[in-house]
Amino acid sequence: MPGLTSDTNSQKLSGYRFYEEVLGSPKYVVAPMVDQSELAWRILSRRYGAQLVYTPMINAKMFASEKTRKGYRDQNFNISNGEEGGPQDRPLIVQFCANNADQLLESAKFVEPHCDAVDINLGCPQYIARKGHYGAYLQDEWDLIHNLINTLHKNLSIPVTAKFRVFSTVEKTVEYAKMLESAGAQILTCHGRTREQRGHSTGLADWAKIRAVKDAVSIPVFANGNILYHSDIEECLRITGADAVMSAEGQLYNAALFAPAQSSSTSLSSPLAFDKGLHPPHADLALEYLSIVKGLKTKTPMSAVKGHLFKLMRPALSRETDLRDRLGKVRNNDKAIDEYVEVVQQMKARMERDANEVESVSAEELVKIDPATRLKVLPHWLAQPYCRPLPIIAPQSTGMSSPIPRQEEDGEMLTGKRPHSEMAREFERPVDEAKRARVGSVPAML
Ligand SMILES: Cc1cc2nc3c(=O)[nH]c(=O)nc-3n(C[C@H](O)[C@H](O)[C@H](O)COP(=O)(O)O)c2cc1C
Repeated sequence: MPGLTSDTNSQKLSGYRFYEEVLGSPKYVVAPMVDQSELAWRILSRRYGAQLVYTPMINAKMFASEKTRKGYRDQNFNISNGEEGGPQDRPLIVQFCANNADQLLESAKFVEPHCDAVDINLGCPQYIARKGHYGAYLQDEWDLIHNLINTLHKNLSIPVTAKFRVFSTVEKTVEYAKMLESAGAQILTCHGRTREQRGHSTGLADWAKIRAVKDAVSIPVFANGNILYHSDIEECLRITGADAVMSAEGQLYNAALFAPAQSSSTSLSSPLAFDKGLHPPHADLALEYLSIVKGLKTKTPMSAVKGHLFKLMRPALSRETDLRDRLGKVRNNDKAIDEYVEVVQQMKARMERDANEVESVSAEELVKIDPATRLKVLPHWLAQPYCRPLPIIAPQSTGMSSPIPRQEEDGEMLTGKRPHSEMAREFERPVDEAKRARVGSVPAML
């Protein structure tokens, strides 16, 4: 089984040998996502085709100083229950943000026996990253970055990897990627947006820059950005030449993003006619997710649960406003999961009712093209990407046939409620999704 190298003294593999022999040559990767790529979501994602998953970013400074930050470790990577990093949670890469090599190493040593690699977040562009001096705000301090990577490279028994954003020029991006490789990174994830591409200016990821990185280094490269539909995956791999595709938002709205459509099925839950991928009924995905949450000993933060439910069921929430309000009102207590299950079961019944009403209509006829985004809109009971209408001018080299309006990246304004940990609270500044839904679909990029 890929991803289980519990003998930390075993020979440390590097680059492609690590990618192939330990990770099992994954092509479909779920991104690190604060308060969203938690254990329960990772388990669901693997059931639907994800071959490698990252943990949410963990702050190495807080993780290392467990004495002062009581409980932070348990909340962010629970080892005592044996589930995080256990057999059903591999292959797994644990991501940290850091600006101090000692704190990073101490934190990494703690998770080392329970994951396949440790990743360093060099891509977070949020205000909190600037304040905390990490993520994309280290991008200009190459000596510091070199030291962070190299310290883990020399002192860990598992590989170190790095996730970064591109610079405005191809030349600088390539030079940077080579520096990360020379410091000891064994896989690079290249997010094809610059540090400045955030909020209203998010725009499209530049696949040509990812291609240039791939051509310049000898280690595996994961391409990140612009994946909305399953059909984008092959296109991205072809254009970038990358070894794998990493998705964040697209996969949050459709946990089955990486699963191919079932060719034998003609049902609406597998609408082959307009996409090669699987778009299950979102209420089914939501119920499956909740049953995973219920079955785990490890506590799933309620903020994560709420965030997932709002995203998964988004296509129907503007119609089923009473259910949306009920979702928003669920409080964080012992009964919360059962209350969520009740709401989702009602959603499921209503969605089945709607699907039955158009049973005789073909899947093709039910798919609309959004005039503003020129993207496909599937029937409202199916999991699908959420696209906000925005006036975005596509750069030349994205490889995409139509402009893709982006959502806030790195969690900003995406989840339903404030995340559980202090780190995540700082990292994410979400607008209450229920509130957002009440004012309609427009203020998606507030
Ligand atoms: C909810 C959310 C949380 C995120 N948290 C992290 C994180 O913890 N670490 C990180 O490196 N990137 C984080 N990101 C950024 C994604 O990993 C990814 O680089 C970015 O969203 C672009 O990919 P996409 O176009 O597939 O969404 C986050 C993104 C989202 C949507």
